Amino acid sequence: MTPRHPRAPLLPYQPPDPPEAAARRFCEIMARRRSVRMFSDRPVSLETVEWIIRSAGTAPSGANKQPWRFVAVADPVLKRRIRLAAEAEEREFYQRRANAQWLADLAPLETTPDKAFLEAAPWLIAVFKLVRGDDGGQVYYVNESVGIAVGLLLAAAHHAGLATLTHTPSPMKFLADILRRPAHERPFLLIPLGYPAEGCEVPDIARRPLHEIMARDLG
Ligand SMILES: Cc1cc2nc3c(=O)[nH]c(=O)nc-3n(C[C@H](O)[C@H](O)[C@H](O)COP(=O)(O)O)c2cc1C
Repeated sequence: MTPRHPRAPLLPYQPPDPPEAAARRFCEIMARRRSVRMFSDRPVSLETVEWIIRSAGTAPSGANKQPWRFVAVADPVLKRRIRLAAEAEEREFYQRRANAQWLADLAPLETTPDKAFLEAAPWLIAVFKLVRGDDGGQVYYVNESVGIAVGLLLAAAHHAGLATLTHTPSPMKFLADILRRPAHERPFLLIPLGYPAEGCEVPDIARRPLHEIMARDLG
């Protein structure tokens, strides 16, 4: 039997405001997050990126296995190689792989195989999921765990005034090859991170209202 962890007192986070006001303020901040596809080359410090990745690393995970790796890429040569490989996959996607419905759903966003933002953004965070622990051990609920960690990463970047895009060039195996990741790390998402370009525009889309996304119990 593995011994139990020693216990420590919970250090509750107590916002200065009542929960209604605190929750509302956070919602108002998060409602301003948007996926950005036009990045400026304004630098972002490594320290900032490290804090953002630490935030992602605070996520809960199945049996606390923390099955994630965040590879922070700033090297222009690597960014170019990633862009070229992503664009090759995306051309395949738009010309052959995507079905008509998928292309129709993407059309209003006007996304194209051109991925200039992969070179323009000062950082690319390549997110990998671990299908085995670094010690070769089992991992649990990997997609759920890494998805939650990425959510925290996006929120942390936004909170720091930075923009991101959750990008999924598919398939993404090229990321593991270019970044020379070990076999137990599988590409999950590619996240350019930086400041939006001057005059950056985003699709004017709406969120579903609360009554559509929330249901109440019938008790
Ligand atoms: C899992 C996932 C994959 C996505 N893949 C792409 C992508 O490959 N390229 C892209 O331009 N946007 C991608 N997006 C961004 C969505 O298009 C975007 O989140 C959605 O249109 C809502 O816009 P918003 O993030 O600005 O609120 C992806 C988002 C998610 C969550």
